[in-house]
Amino acid sequence: MPISVILGLQWGDEAKGKVVDLLSQEFDIIVRYQGGANAGHTIYYNNQKIPLHLIPSGIFHPDKTCIIGNGVVVDPYALKDEIEKLKELGINVKERLYISSRAHLILPYHKKRDEERDRTRKIGTTKKGIGPAYQDKSARWGIRAGDIFYPDYLRERLKNNIDNYQELFKEYTEILNFIKPMIKDTVSILVEAEQSGKKILMEGAQGTMLDVDFGTYPYVTSSNPTIGGVFTGTGLSPKFLDKIIGVSKAYTTRVGAGPFPTELEGNMQSYLREEGNEYGATTGRARRCGWLDLTQLKYAADVNGIDGIFLTKMDVLNHLEEIKVGIGYRHNGKIISTFPDAISILNEIVVEYKTLKGWNTNINGIKTFSKLPEQTKDYIKFIQDFINIPVIGISTGPLRGDVIYAD
Ligand code: IMP
Repeated sequence: MPISVILGLQWGDEAKGKVVDLLSQEFDIIVRYQGGANAGHTIYYNNQKIPLHLIPSGIFHPDKTCIIGNGVVVDPYALKDEIEKLKELGINVKERLYISSRAHLILPYHKKRDEERDRTRKIGTTKKGIGPAYQDKSARWGIRAGDIFYPDYLRERLKNNIDNYQELFKEYTEILNFIKPMIKDTVSILVEAEQSGKKILMEGAQGTMLDVDFGTYPYVTSSNPTIGGVFTGTGLSPKFLDKIIGVSKAYTTRVGAGPFPTELEGNMQSYLREEGNEYGATTGRARRCGWLDLTQLKYAADVNGIDGIFLTKMDVLNHLEEIKVGIGYRHNGKIISTFPDAISILNEIVVEYKTLKGWNTNINGIKTFSKLPEQTKDYIKFIQDFINIPVIGISTGPLRGDVIYAD
């Protein structure tokens, strides 16, 4: 069983990049299966903070192959930028990165459309052209990375999409030529890798609550970060699945508009934002912050069928006397135990909280679970018991070594 998955259980920004970076040592191939340059995975490499948007976080391990699967929408300009930045750090990307020929492209007109539409729709998108690119894909007039191998076909496709296609055909051909050597039939690469016993790690972007089907629609992204996206976004069969690891922060954040039941206001929100440096890696926007919401987390765990949870940014809660966790919702006075399927209900629910004792001490630097303060252990146990899924690790700081695996 060679495939494992790491995916987000909240509204994205769960620090999945760090978990992928840590666990990728055990894998041969790391694959992104959905989303695009709307994602922002921050990795600390040689103590330097490096944001990645498109390239899988496994790229920092020199012996790994990275793949951008067919489910990703690829902005060739953003990708070139990222490849060049990594090259400056001495990381050679071009020989270790494959881009699916079936992946759809984000071209400048998608970004323009995204900006124009969001002015009225007010989802608060990243303006990276994600929605319009997926829309073109479903409408069947999208342009795929592999189209660069067939210039006449590419010209014809552009003609259907834009007015001044002649001029732009030249410009787009130029940028696509930069990534052309990396564009491959990644389905056959992955199938062959699986058959030869290679270990494959699937890296999700965004999170369950931003999933176009299972998230807080319409305040979602346009892809499936949840488990099904792994298979439609890569071409590998669920038959080969081994482990599904869900990543959650020890609290909750969200960027952009839409419901967020446990959102905080005032000082407490600012406290989490500043302690957690909760500013977007892609857009720089201040993230909305709130307590951990176990009803939401359980829903996400169920939808994905996760085997274990990795809790990140535990240290952000270091100096609190008390920590609250959402343990249920009430609507019109009635308890609802599942995550609501309608925005109108979500906007009206009242969250019930349990208050737990904070550990009010620094846990950075602790290396084993048993040495954690009792209150930290209680917090972890409470989450574990509520969701009925084991916590397999926690992160206690931004650096690679700031992590504790469960005993
Ligand atoms: P889009 O993906 O740019 O269309 O944005 C749709 C929604 O998803 C907005 O609320 C964005 O803020 C949110 N979003 C997209 N990518 C991320 C991410 O990587 N982290 C957190 N939120 C994201």
